[in-house]
Formats: sequence, C-alpha cells, structure tokens
Amino acid sequence: MIEKKHKRLELLDLPAEYSNLDQTLNSAFKILEDASKNRRSLFHTPTLSTFDGNRVSIRTMVLREFDPDKRLIRFHTDYRSIKIQQLKKDSHGAVHGYDPSLKIQIRLDGKINLHHKDEITKGSWELSKDMSKECYFVGGPPGSKIDDPTEYEPSTFNLKTFNGFDNFCVIVFEIESMEFLYLKKSGHRRAIHNWSTGEHQASWLIP
Ligand SMILES: Cc1cc2nc3c(=O)[nH]c(=O)nc-3n(C[C@H](O)[C@H](O)[C@H](O)COP(=O)(O)O)c2cc1C
Repeated sequence: MIEKKHKRLELLDLPAEYSNLDQTLNSAFKILEDASKNRRSLFHTPTLSTFDGNRVSIRTMVLREFDPDKRLIRFHTDYRSIKIQQLKKDSHGAVHGYDPSLKIQIRLDGKINLHHKDEITKGSWELSKDMSKECYFVGGPPGSKIDDPTEYEPSTFNLKTFNGFDNFCVIVFEIESMEFLYLKKSGHRRAIHNWSTGEHQASWLIP
C-alpha cells in the first residue's frame, strides 16, 4: 500500500516534501492536468458547488479540460439542469477534490461562464463521444419527477425528433483562488494562491 502511494507521487513527479509555495502550485496544476486525461485520477470527477443566493448545491462532475495558462476548467452539462438555473442567479462556483494516495486536497474558487449554442459548445460537442451525447437527448429537464424510469433510458430516445446539441452546455470555470492542502505526519502544508487582483499572490496558511 505504501509503495502504491509513493508510485502515484512518482508517476506525477510530485515532491514528498514541500518547502516553497511554487511547489504547491506546480503540484496542483500537474494533478489537474493529469485529471483531465486520466479517468483513474480521483480529480477526474471533482465536486462542483454552486450557490443560488439562498442554498448551496454540490455534485460530481467530469473534469473535461484544464488550461493552466488561463486557469480554466471545462465541464459539460445539460442546459436544462438545476445547476444552470442556479448559475444564472450567481456565477460563483467552487470545485473540490481529494486523493488519499497523494494526501492532497485541492479547493478552487472561481467564476463560471456558461456556453450554449455557440462556437465553444460546437467544438466540445464535436469532440464528444456518441455515448456522452446520448445524455442530452433525454426528453425532459434533468431532475424532473417521473413515474417510470425505464422510459428515460437511452434505448428509448428518439434521436430524430430531439436535437441533443440544443441541450448541451459547456461550463467554463475560471480559477480565482486555489487552496492546496498536503497532509503529512511530519508536517502538514496548506497554501493559498490568489489571482483575483490580476496578480498572482501566494501565502502559507495554518493547516
Ligand atoms: C461519476 C459521476 C460523473 C458525473 N459527471 C457529470 C457531468 O460531467 N456533468 C453533469 O452535468 N453531471 C454529471 N454527473 C451527475 C451530477 O453529479 C448531478 O447528479 C447532475 O448533474 C444533476 O445536478 P443538478 O441537479 O445540480 O443540476 C456525474 C455524476 C457522477 C456520479
């Protein structure tokens, strides 16, 4: 087990000890880059939380792309889903992931831009597999109450009458701050990186 944990650190080329803030940023970004391509990474399915001014909601989402230079994360969803209604009220969001094999938690705070029936959505739709596209052919808003769940299985979809693309939405999450937490017996390390002023600011925090 211990060997497996070290392997994962080595695979991602992450340090076993953290002595400067740049290391924490590099590790977090390496993890997120890996997460966008590696289905086995626990950060491949982080939690996205939204707030509608009244309530907080959280859900698991597939991390489709990470752009470290622009600090953008791309998610896909159904434009009719509840999260979209919430995001239209408040565009702030938070993303969270933890991998016990790395002993690293990443918390992201940021703003969300929604894309629907535009060039960005077209590009992402074309790159999506048929199996992923099927989700958007469901004949009703996700979260609606139904009597019979078997009527909403992919085999029942009428692909000719519905256009899945019309329901497809790209969520672009722009990272404004990133909190890194590394739990290690010999000394925990917690760091915050913030870009909300336009400049990159970083600091250690009490774990
Ligand atoms: C492993 C896993 C991956 C998921 N990926 C997505 C995803 O990429 N996009 C999405 O909209 N929902 C995804 N879901 C479903 C969401 O967690 C959630 O149930 C759904 O989007 C409805 O959320 P809402 O009612 O807050 O809009 C995933 C769920 C799991 C368990």
